Parts: sequence; C-alpha cells; structure tokens
Amino acid sequence: MEQTLSIIKPDAVQKHLIGEIVGRFEQSGLYPVQIKMITFSVAQAEAFYAEHLGREFYQPLIDFMTSGPSVVMVLEGNDAIKRNRQLMGVTNPDLAEPGTIRADYAESTRLNCVHGSDSAASAEREIQFFFAKH
Ligand code: TYD
Ligand code: MG
Repeated sequence: MEQTLSIIKPDAVQKHLIGEIVGRFEQSGLYPVQIKMITFSVAQAEAFYAEHLGREFYQPLIDFMTSGPSVVMVLEGNDAIKRNRQLMGVTNPDLAEPGTIRADYAESTRLNCVHGSDSAASAEREIQFFFAKH
C-alpha cells in the first residue's frame, strides 16, 4: 500500500465535480483515508508551490489556488502515486489522455482540476504539509 496527496482544486469544486472525481478514485481502488475542505491562504499556496517560485505562471497559480475552497485528501492504494497521476492526466488538458480527469474536465493548464504528488518524496512532504500529526 502507498499513500499520495490529492487536491480537488477550486475550479473543480466550483463545477460540482467533487463526487465525480472521488468516485473515479474509489472505482480505481484509490481510497481517501484523510480528507478536508480548505480555502488555501496565500501563505499556504506559496509554500505548497514553492518549487515554482520565479516561473511566469507562479502568481496566477497562487491567485487561482486561493480563489475558493479545495478538497485535500490522502489517497491510499497499490502504486497510489503513479496511478493517481495516470487518472489525472498530464498538466495541459489538451495533451491529456482521453478519459483522464484533466482531459474530461480541465479548462486550461492553470484551471486543471486536480493536484497529485509526483514522487514518493513529494507525497511524504505534501501529506505532512496538510495532515501533520500534533
Ligand atoms: P506542475 O507541478 O508542473 O504540474 P502538475 O500539477 O501536473 O504536477 O505545475 C503545478 C501547477 O502549476 C499546474 O498544475 C498548473 C500550474 N502551471 C501553469 O499554470 N502553467 C504551466 O506552464 C505549468 C507547468 C504549471
Ligand atoms: Mg506537480
């Protein structure tokens, strides 16, 4: 079993896609084991996406991620990190495989519905970021 961090971003929440997206995960054997709805603060969005600081899309990304509520969850299942990324599709929805979440629902590279950890190291960091034990 492996865990990964998934975020249903503000565009998808606003379009009432929470159930659709969580359903796809569950039907694929990726099960939420922790889940919460939050509106990212600017500080949270900047820290979460710190690796992209300095890129031209950074500020619009922060503005978007803080624009409304997101659903943040830990998904657990076999090969969860890679399989979540496969269900999501690639960053740019025009290039995403048909049948992926981004191909089906994303409007643009920025408004692309979902986040998923891209490696074991980022999964560990990102799960800790939102679900730190205290
Ligand atoms: P990245 O980690 O490269 O993509 P992914 O979400 O597929 O892991 O980028 C993080 C987010 O930044 C991405 O989901 C949307 C935004 N972004 C842009 O708006 N424009 C871009 O050119 C890139 C690369 C990312
Ligand atoms: Mg990424």
